[in-house]
Order: sequence, then structure tokens, then C-alpha cells
Amino acid sequence: MSFESPQSDSYGAQNSGEYHHKSARIKLRGLSPSIFSPALAAAFEIFSNPKDQVAVEEDYRISLEPERFVEQMRHSGIKTQKYWVATKSKKSPTVAGITGLETKVEDEAGSAWLGWFGVVPEYRGKGYGRALLKKTISKARNVGFGRLRLWTTTAPEEVAAQDMYEEFGFRLTGDKEMPESNESILFREKIL
Ligand SMILES: CC(C)(COP(=O)(O)OP(=O)(O)OC[C@H]1O[C@@H](n2cnc3c(N)ncnc32)[C@H](O)[C@@H]1OP(=O)(O)O)[C@@H](O)C(=O)NCCC(=O)NCCS
Repeated sequence: MSFESPQSDSYGAQNSGEYHHKSARIKLRGLSPSIFSPALAAAFEIFSNPKDQVAVEEDYRISLEPERFVEQMRHSGIKTQKYWVATKSKKSPTVAGITGLETKVEDEAGSAWLGWFGVVPEYRGKGYGRALLKKTISKARNVGFGRLRLWTTTAPEEVAAQDMYEEFGFRLTGDKEMPESNESILFREKIL
């Protein structure tokens, strides 16, 4: 597999799938104590692997009270983390999807990572994933990030995401074998 260098990536928003497909209407709400339970329930439906579920719950809790979890953050290398849920309207409590933006201590300024992104199975195939990714990219741009990175895997349940990431201009930048698994981690990056 060959990878493009991030520097040579000239893929702009106008060339990406951001504007070329129909996407659903969603409302993004920041993760807060009042929406914590439905957000976590949605995350558990999206990520069924028990290890992922432990990790997402920890990240959600840390994001709400970072000052209480300084040691965990030092261990994970995460500098900042902010998560949102997607509901169908401002008033609707039904969580259709989740997304987030994280920064890491080891990264250069201006780089962010997509964190815990996905659509609840019953809402898939209706344009929610596209709408959610588009809004997350806008949030990243609005706070001044210049690069958005993500990691995903070659696992069957994450295959659907790959075409969409390509269309949005997230170029493969590397891969890594996962221990005790036939699958690999894929790293992607989009210049914003
Ligand atoms: C990836 C995911 C977010 C897509 O959400 P979604 O709401 O179904 O996506 P949309 O309806 O907006 O479709 C967006 C694109 O995704 C791709 N896609 C969605 N479902 C697909 C499927 N079953 N097979 C292949 N491609 C699919 C297509 O490229 C589609 O674009 P198109 O409709 O123009 O063909 C969702 O499948 C998901 O949450 N998967 C599990 C978690 C995950 O993989 N998270 C990302 C990994 S870090």
C-alpha cells in the first residue's frame, strides 16, 4: 500500500465529498451531564467491542471533568477532548450519532483528531454519518485547526467508513498491525 505525504495533500473542501452528497439534518449538542447517559448508550451501540466501551466511557468522563483526571490524561497523552452528540432536532433527546475532537500532547499545534465518531445502527444509511462528519470538520476549522487526523481499522464494521473518509479528503498516511488480530489500524489525515 502506498501513502501520500500529508504535505502533498492538496485536496480542498470543494473537491471532497463534503458538498457533493445529500446529508441529513442534525443538531450537534456538546456532551454534558444531562445528555451523558443517552450519549454513552449510543456509543455502546456503535462500538460493541468491550475494550472500546471502557475507553469511550473513560474519555467521556474525562472530557467533562479534566481537572479530576490529570493522571489518566498524562497516561493517554491526550491534551484536550471535546465530544458532541447528534440529535435529529434541538429538542429531540434521541441520539443518532456521536463525534468528537481531541488533541494530543505529542502533536504539533493546529492538529486535531476525530474522536469516537459513528452513527447508531438504526440510523445508518440515511445521511447522518455524512452530516456528522461535515459538522465536525466545520467545528475543527472554526477553532482554527489546520489538520484533522483519524485512525480507523480494517475491521468489517468499519469498512463502510472508508469510502466516506476518502470522499471527504482524508488521505491514508500510514498503517499499523494490531496485536493478536488480523486487522490493521489505518491512519488518515485531511488538511483543512
Ligand atoms: C461509518 C458510519 C459513520 C456511516 O454512517 P451513515 O449514517 O450510515 O453514513 P451515511 O448514510 O451518511 O453515508 C455516508 C457514506 O458512507 C458510506 N456507507 C454508508 N453505509 C455503507 C455501507 N453499508 N456499505 C458501504 N458504504 C457505506 C458510503 O460511502 C456513503 O455514501 P453514499 O451514501 O453517498 O454512498 C457508520 O456506518 C458507523 O457508525 N459505523 C460504525 C462506526 C465506525 O465505523 N466509525 C468510524 C470508524 S473510527
